[in-house]
Order: sequence, then C-alpha cells, then structure tokens
Amino acid sequence: MQKNNIPKVPEEDRLFRYVGDFEGKNVLITGGMGFIGSNLAIRLAGMGAKVVLLDAMIPDYGGNLFNIKPVESMVTVNFGDIRNDNTMNYLVKEKDYIFHLAGQVCHVMSLTNPFPDIDINIKGAAVLMEACKKNNPGVKVIYTGTRGQYGPSVHLPVNEEAPTRPKGIYEISNLAAEQIIKVYNDIHGIKSVMLRLTNIYGPRAQMQHHRFGVVNWFIRQAMDDETLKIFGDGKILRDFLFVNDCVDAIIMSAATPEAYGEIFNVGIDRPTNFIELAEAIIKVAGKGKWEFAPFSAERKAQEPGDFYSDISKIKRIIGWEPKIGLEDGLRGTISYYEKQKKYYW
Ligand SMILES: NC(=O)c1ccc[n+]([C@@H]2O[C@H](COP(=O)([O-])OP(=O)(O)OC[C@H]3O[C@@H](n4cnc5c(N)ncnc54)[C@H](O)[C@@H]3O)[C@@H](O)[C@H]2O)c1
Repeated sequence: MQKNNIPKVPEEDRLFRYVGDFEGKNVLITGGMGFIGSNLAIRLAGMGAKVVLLDAMIPDYGGNLFNIKPVESMVTVNFGDIRNDNTMNYLVKEKDYIFHLAGQVCHVMSLTNPFPDIDINIKGAAVLMEACKKNNPGVKVIYTGTRGQYGPSVHLPVNEEAPTRPKGIYEISNLAAEQIIKVYNDIHGIKSVMLRLTNIYGPRAQMQHHRFGVVNWFIRQAMDDETLKIFGDGKILRDFLFVNDCVDAIIMSAATPEAYGEIFNVGIDRPTNFIELAEAIIKVAGKGKWEFAPFSAERKAQEPGDFYSDISKIKRIIGWEPKIGLEDGLRGTISYYEKQKKYYW
C-alpha cells in the first residue's frame, strides 16, 4: 500500500504492465481537478507517478476539490490558468508527460458565447505547446478532444478517417486545439497523442447543472426521483463510455511509442439509444421516470444525429478496448454519488 491507502495497481489490472512507464515520472495534468483529470490523477498516483495538477477552478466548470480527496497528500495542486504563459513556462519544465484536459467543455454555452472556447481551448493549447517547445521539447503530450469534432456521421461506426465537420464552436475549438498540438508534434517534434473521446460518464463529474454530460445529468435526475427528458424520438444512437475505461485508454496511449503523432477514437463499439440509456439508469437507480420532450432550438441545431465510435485503430495499435458495460458503469457511478452526494449536489 502507498500513503493514504491508495492501493498500488495490482497484477491482474491491465495497467500493471505500464507501471514502469510512470513510476517516479513527473506528470502534469491540466484540468486535473475536473471529472476525467481527477480520475486520471488517482490512477497515475496509484502507479507511483509524481503528479502535479493545474486547474483554474472557474466557477460552474467541472473543478471540484473533493475529486482528489483520495490522493490529496500525494499530488501537488497548482491553481493557475493554462492561458498564462508564465505559469505554463514554469509548470512544463522537467515533466515526462503532460495530459492536457483543461477546457471549456459545455457545447451549449459555446453557442451563446464563443469566446471562452476560443480563448481557453484554442489559445490555451497554443500557450501550452509553446511553453513545451521553449522549456521541455522532450515531453510527451496527450490531448483529449471530442467525438463532436466529426460532426454528422457519414457512415457508422465513425473511424478516424471520417471528415471533420463540427457543428458548434466547442467542437471547432477542440479540433483546432488537436491540430495545433499535431503541428507541434509534426513540425517541432514534441511527441503527442490526440484522442477523440466519446460521451464519458462516471464518478467525479459535476452534477449541479445539465449543461455537461447527459448521462451524469440523467443519473442525478433518477437519483432525485425526477423525470428524465428525452429529446426527439429517443432513437438517436450514441456510445457511452465509463470513465475508468477512458482513463485506461489515456494512460495506455501515453505508454505506447507507436501512438505518438496519431489520432485515436476512444469510445465503445456497442451503441445505445437514449430510451435504452434512460431505462438502464432508472433500473439501476431504482427511481425516476422518463418522458419525451421537444429539442430546444439550440440543441436541435447542434445535434449531429447517430454516432458511435469505430475503435479498431486504438485496439490494434494500443491494445485498448472498453471493459465495462453500461449497467456496470451505471452501478459504479450511482454507488459513488450515493455515498458522496453532498459534495456534488
Ligand atoms: N466528459 C466528456 O464526456 C468529454 C467528452 C469528450 C471530450 N472531453 C474533453 O476532455 C477534457 C476534460 O473534460 P472533463 O469532462 O473532465 O471536463 P471538466 O470540466 O470536468 O474538467 C475540465 C477542467 O478544466 C479546468 N479548466 C478550465 N479552463 C481552465 C483554464 N483556463 N486553466 C486551467 N484549468 C481550466 C476546469 O476548472 C475543470 O476542472 C476536456 O478537454 C473535454 O473537452 C470530455
């Protein structure tokens, strides 16, 4: 056991074979107090990495101090902003890996105010990569973009060769950030992996408003015995990935030399429609009900239709595939929030 009772990654865990890649290594996670960043921090600390978290804790975004409770004495937290080049010039130094997860993540907000996306997601990526170029060009960078970068699917499942025709500013800003990071990989030799995440759900997501991930919001509503609103006919397909699987994909891609310079989908090749999703959540929560509701004009304009990820590339090159099915993931999520509700509601 390590300090604070975080168990070392056990032999039967698929990350066990990667412990040597991270033990004693210096790691920076931008957006580390947020949903995915904090889950990643807990796993990397369990692998023996020296973890620094950077987060601006912008109100209404996903940062939550409680998220890192299990590792608070094992990680270093820096409350700073990725747009600040002095901060970034300092923090990138001597790092072996940088996981870039900080961002404005609300695609609905990006329609009414595009500037946080442009400023945080696009400029922030450029500030980070310039800091790496000047201070630590040997670092490895892992970026988490979104499946929304594809826009409407031309075929299903969607592979990495599909056209990128994003339908909103958030999605454009993620695509721009990805391409900025790829330029620094291709031109300046800063090794980077670009991931396109599908809808991620699980413990440590913000649960106070509906503007982030739909699965977590439905979970809150079911736990509160409320009515889940399903837009349209509920038949739109999506892939919903549990955060532990997502974190494994991020860590495994960082530890795979062949992954650098490449773009990978991180998703699940078993699609679910929104009616199935709502019914599974209500079943696992043992509460709540659902009804149809009309799309708002904004949501309708941004809805890209059916999407699920082709994950054959990440399976082939990195050897990652999801392990946790929807019901198990929902059970894990609901049991977490049942215990820790007061920190999230
Ligand atoms: N959650 C998903 O379903 C999903 C899907 C696709 C892509 N992603 C991407 O993964 C990344 C992480 O998403 P998440 O769900 O953990 O979001 P999150 O909102 O929970 O975490 C993002 C964190 O970044 C921090 N942050 C925002 N602006 C910052 C700045 N200027 N400087 C420093 N910190 C800042 C926030 O305070 C927050 O803690 C994002 O880039 C997001 O676009 C997430």
